[in-house]
Amino acid sequence: MEDNRIEIDSGLCSGCGACVSVCPTGTISLVDGKAVVSGTESISCGHCEAVCPQGAVRVLAIDQEMSHFQTFRAENDWLAPGRYSTSGLVQLMASRRSCRCFADKPVDRALLEDLIKIGVTAPSGTNCQAWTFTVMPTRKAVLSVAEHIASYYRKLNSTAEKTLLRLFLKMIGKGELDAYFHGYYQKVKRALEHWQDAGREHLFHGATAAIVVGSRPGASCPAEDALLATQNILLGAHSMGLSSCLIGFAVAAMKRDPSIQLTLGIPSAEQIHAVIALGYSDEVYQHTTGRKKVTSRYFEG
Ligand SMILES: Cc1cc2nc3c(=O)[nH]c(=O)nc-3n(C[C@H](O)[C@H](O)[C@H](O)COP(=O)(O)O)c2cc1C
Repeated sequence: MEDNRIEIDSGLCSGCGACVSVCPTGTISLVDGKAVVSGTESISCGHCEAVCPQGAVRVLAIDQEMSHFQTFRAENDWLAPGRYSTSGLVQLMASRRSCRCFADKPVDRALLEDLIKIGVTAPSGTNCQAWTFTVMPTRKAVLSVAEHIASYYRKLNSTAEKTLLRLFLKMIGKGELDAYFHGYYQKVKRALEHWQDAGREHLFHGATAAIVVGSRPGASCPAEDALLATQNILLGAHSMGLSSCLIGFAVAAMKRDPSIQLTLGIPSAEQIHAVIALGYSDEVYQHTTGRKKVTSRYFEG
């Protein structure tokens, strides 16, 4: 059982009731003009602690260390809605680009540790925070995983070359191999050949670090939580001078070949949702670009 206790210092509590109003689980009540913990359903979201003007509330599951970063100082004053530069935020978001040419420069471990703390500022279903992070901190580690994944794709490609097998599987409702053949086979074949002949690693694009984002069992929305944390890491990385690239090919291989996950020391009960290649980019852009047109749908009631 996780510790979901809340401590309220009744000497400091002014009885304003702000913590009672903000609590999503009705865990706190006002008794004789003081806030008291009356329920057991706390999800340790920390809203009560954040809203208390007296600093009287403490959520025990919140680790203060998670708000202290090694490579920069974070302000912990709350920014009310509208108190941040939208223009700056959008410029950061649009400036993050997937990097496919990393420089041969190591990433400081402190940056990787800070990135994970940035990741977990994301929301999570019922605040369960069941995400997991597995760090490959060096080029050597990334390359050894890349080689493991490459051997998975070599085997997959040689299976996909068997036309009769592909068509038989498709006929019995298992069309994945045929879809892979038509969608990715050639691309993967070329990348593997180029890797072998020219020594250019095309999976992690030469990244000197990587983070695998997964989830422990039991989360209500494991994929959503992990991907929200992932997006935070991508943006945080850009702001810290790092570049990144999501590696869907690595996720697909890890999902289909459990031995890759185990090689990384990730228990089989955990699910993998994202693999983030990280490092310093050799690519320089002149400006940001937009996206394809989106036509929104409105429902007016
Ligand atoms: C789920 C997901 C998986 C991806 N997998 C790969 C990949 O395996 N290799 C790669 O080079 N890029 C990969 N990308 C990067 C996309 O190609 C990229 O986000 C897209 O082209 C838009 O470019 P941008 O990220 O620079 O804005 C992936 C992106 C996402 C969201």
